Formats: sequence, C-alpha cells, structure tokens
Amino acid sequence: MPSRSAAALPDSAAAGPSDCATRPRVTLVVARARNGVIGADGGLPWHLPEDLKHFRALTMGHAIVMGRRTWDSIGRALPGRRSIVVSRDETRRFEGAERAASIDEALEIASRPGADPSIATDEVFVIGGAQLFAAALARADRAVVTEIDRDVEGDTHFEALDSAAWSVVDRRERRAADGTRFAIVDYRRTGAGED
Ligand SMILES: NC(=O)c1ccc[n+]([C@@H]2O[C@H](COP(=O)([O-])OP(=O)(O)OC[C@H]3O[C@@H](n4cnc5c(N)ncnc54)[C@H](OP(=O)(O)O)[C@@H]3O)[C@@H](O)[C@H]2O)c1
Repeated sequence: MPSRSAAALPDSAAAGPSDCATRPRVTLVVARARNGVIGADGGLPWHLPEDLKHFRALTMGHAIVMGRRTWDSIGRALPGRRSIVVSRDETRRFEGAERAASIDEALEIASRPGADPSIATDEVFVIGGAQLFAAALARADRAVVTEIDRDVEGDTHFEALDSAAWSVVDRRERRAADGTRFAIVDYRRTGAGED
C-alpha cells in the first residue's frame, strides 16, 4: 500500500488514518446495491451466501468493529474474530465482544493484542453499518466493497466512494447461484478527496 503523509490528508482525517507504525490499517467492508442500499429493517436486504463466505475469509483472524445496531442484527460474536462494538450506552454488555464509546477508541483497542493472541493487529475491519462507516471513513485506508449489480429497496445507504480519493486495485466479477451479478472491489485511498 502506498504510504500517506498526514499533510496529504484532509484536516478531518489528519489525526485518524492509520500510521502503520502505530495503528492497524483500517479497512471498510461493505456490500452495496447499485442504488447505494446496504440495509433494510435492521438487516441485510439480500441473501448472498457467496458474499458471506468472502466476508468470513477476509475478516478471519482479525478484529472487526461494528455499530451497535449491526451487532444486534448479527446477534452474536462471530467465531475466529475479535468483535468490538461501538456504542455510547455504557450500560450495555456484549457477550463475547468488547465495547468502545467511539470509533477512535475501537481502533485503539484493535491496535493492541487482546485475550486471543492469534488475532492480528496489523489490519482492522470496520463492518458497518451506515453510521459506523460514516464515522470511520476519514480514518480508512482500504475499502473492500461488494458491488451488487441491481437496485434494492432499503432504508440504510452507503455513498459510492469518491473517485478523487479512492482507486481500485482489484476487481473480481462473480455471479451468485441465484443469478445475481456482483463484484468484489478492493479500493485503496490514494488521494485526499472530500471525506
Ligand atoms: N451491507 C452491508 O455491508 C452492511 C454492513 C453492516 C450493516 N448493514 C446494515 O446496516 C443497518 C445498520 O446500520 P445503522 O447505520 O442503522 O447502524 P450501525 O452503524 O450498525 O449502529 C449504530 C449505532 O452504533 C453506535 N454508534 C454509531 N456511530 C457512533 C459513534 N460515532 N460514536 C459512538 N457510537 C456510535 C450507536 O449505538 P448506541 O445507540 O448503542 O449508542 C448507534 O446507534 C442494518 O440494516 C444492517 O443490516 C449492512
């Protein structure tokens, strides 16, 4: 990954994006319909086992950071990963997961080894939902986006990445068993952009 100096970043990002020496690489993992929809009624608006398999392989052995609503929709800690749930509610407990009060606290937790020493600290995956993606975008170095080639109805959205700030380094076209076409697109931040 190309290194980035703080001077090349927007003010909002200057304090946040990963410095490989001290912080893990911050990667967003998102599945997005053509019209930007990522969620509906608190869940995913599609059933795409091929994408879930990709998600599992990508995140296995790493920390995953999610918003409280996404935690509630998954309903449990995902095996083989360190779950960090961002919530302002100090009274909430998340079984098998750690709570962080902010995205920065979550990234700080992920940068240090936890109870399971096999969990890597070089890269942390922010897995949603929309609120968490918005909070983490300025700190992100990489985004792995499943681009689903159809419009979908829903109530939760993720805007397309700003092409002035992000470049595609890999794109894999797939077709699901049900015929849905999608692509797994690996983006790197290469410019300051607007986020
Ligand atoms: N397609 C995808 O890739 C994808 C991925 C994940 C989720 N989703 C979908 O997205 C939807 C959920 O997204 P969402 O945006 O409604 O919720 P979310 O981001 O999962 O969670 C929102 C909650 O996280 C906490 N939070 C968010 N930002 C925070 C911040 N800056 N500081 C501290 N706490 C913060 C708050 O929890 P408290 O209220 O507890 O304080 C907030 O209510 C669901 O439909 C889900 O299925 C889609």
